[in-house]
Amino acid sequence: MPLDVSRPDLTLAVIGTGVMGRGIAQIAAQAGIRVLLQDSRPGAALGAKDSISQQFARLTEKGRLAASDAERACRNLAVAESLNSLSACRIVIEAIVENLEAKREMLRALEQIVAEDCLIASNTSSLSITAIAAACKRPERIGGFHFFNPVPLMKIVEVVDGLLTAPWVAKALTALALRCGHKPVRAKDTPGFIVNHAGRGYGTEALRILGEGVAEFHTVDRILRDCAGFRLGPFELLDLTGLDVSHPVMESIYRQYYEEPRYRPSPITGQRVDAGLLGRKSGRGFYRHENGKQEEIPEPPAPTARPESVWVSRAGLGARLVDLVAKLGARVDSGAKPAARSLCLVAPVGTDATSAALDEGLDPTRTLAVDCLFTLDKRRTLMTTPVTAPTMSAAAHGLLASDGVPVSVVHDSPGFVAQRVIAQIVNIACDIAQQRIASPADIDAAVTLGLAYPQGPLAWGDAIGAGRILVILEALQDFTGDPRYRASPWLKRRARLSVSLLTPEA
Ligand code: NAI
Repeated sequence: MPLDVSRPDLTLAVIGTGVMGRGIAQIAAQAGIRVLLQDSRPGAALGAKDSISQQFARLTEKGRLAASDAERACRNLAVAESLNSLSACRIVIEAIVENLEAKREMLRALEQIVAEDCLIASNTSSLSITAIAAACKRPERIGGFHFFNPVPLMKIVEVVDGLLTAPWVAKALTALALRCGHKPVRAKDTPGFIVNHAGRGYGTEALRILGEGVAEFHTVDRILRDCAGFRLGPFELLDLTGLDVSHPVMESIYRQYYEEPRYRPSPITGQRVDAGLLGRKSGRGFYRHENGKQEEIPEPPAPTARPESVWVSRAGLGARLVDLVAKLGARVDSGAKPAARSLCLVAPVGTDATSAALDEGLDPTRTLAVDCLFTLDKRRTLMTTPVTAPTMSAAAHGLLASDGVPVSVVHDSPGFVAQRVIAQIVNIACDIAQQRIASPADIDAAVTLGLAYPQGPLAWGDAIGAGRILVILEALQDFTGDPRYRASPWLKRRARLSVSLLTPEA
């Protein structure tokens, strides 16, 4: 008989009542489901029941939960002293320690107790559902149900199909997620599922930019916050999560994909872990932290220098740059070729300042590039060639900052900072779609809800233009020779067809 998770008398067991188990139990109890809490550590399940009840009381105090609903939700919670007490459950979610052998051992024992048709879900974030299920008598009843921390606030859950998972399992978990008020997204059992896979681009590309000496960590953070709209810069995020957590995840996903260059981590993080520079939790990461507060790194003052005249290239996004320079009131050199003393500004997509200067026959000592792909209202990114004269650099910086908008000056790099990072994020999302790990719509929903990016990566690629993303990646691959930047077939085809990156296969 199919499992009907809408039944008012549904009983669910949560095994492992730590951070995640408590969160899952809380949302289920609030959704009117009876929840049995089980933990192998004596007293832990009772402690969890008390802590969830206190949480309901806090929500009531804050006016976010009616007192009668809180009472009802509390009554839905019960402690199961042992696995044996779970015999009548039709659905069990495990959230025990992240260890394959421990999970397998617990599931083997559980299968002796529950009925043949009991659904067993695992909240694992990094283990293979297929590998966990392999120890079971009935692997087809095992599915992944990957919530995010804190569960009540992170309204997304990945429903993961192992290789042998039966279709009714994902169907029931999807309905259960909806009943609990969460957005279910469906993923194939692959390393990182959707969210932790799609999240590879941000940190690793930022580390790569840092490793190449393109910009300092706080400059990268500022550019990605102000120009691309991320809530936290990649180095702020690494500090918040802690490198003791994120460095092993970066290595593990890279290895599980057999050293796929797109996910290649940086030697920077391993060394910082060795030095104990973990982030907020150790008081010092990329930033220093005191009493949980991140240090403020002052913005360098804008120079007072101005260029005598400015020649602006029409190539790439030159039209936007022409408008900006006019708005700033600079004296414009409108010759077909720049006059001898003019500052030369270019607005390339994908190419570095050196190549952009040489391609147009400009003097690289007088040339700087401006990233015009993103908003120019909150911050402007200015890129030098290795030989740009300091006087030209100061004049360009002074001019671009003359209306009070901060300017970040970076060293030469194909794709500046934001173009590189966004192109990698879009490309990885495209490859998740190409590998049929999840539907395009689910990829975007998972990333916006799970990672809080300003847009889903596929919709973001559409907004920038799939063709432009392809140009950036091809320029990066061409310049660096690194297969890390090779475009996913999903992106290439949709760019060539001029269709949305959300277009599924026919
Ligand atoms: P936790 O350490 O807070 O809680 C684990 C609980 O499981 C403990 O109370 C422990 O006593 C209990 N336990 C251990 N072995 C057991 C067994 N054999 N039988 C019954 N109970 C057992 O861990 P947390 O953070 O809640 O993680 C649980 C699971 O959720 C892991 O698989 C983890 O990878 C996954 N996860 C964790 C996230 C997080 O941010 N902490 C996010 C998403 C998934």
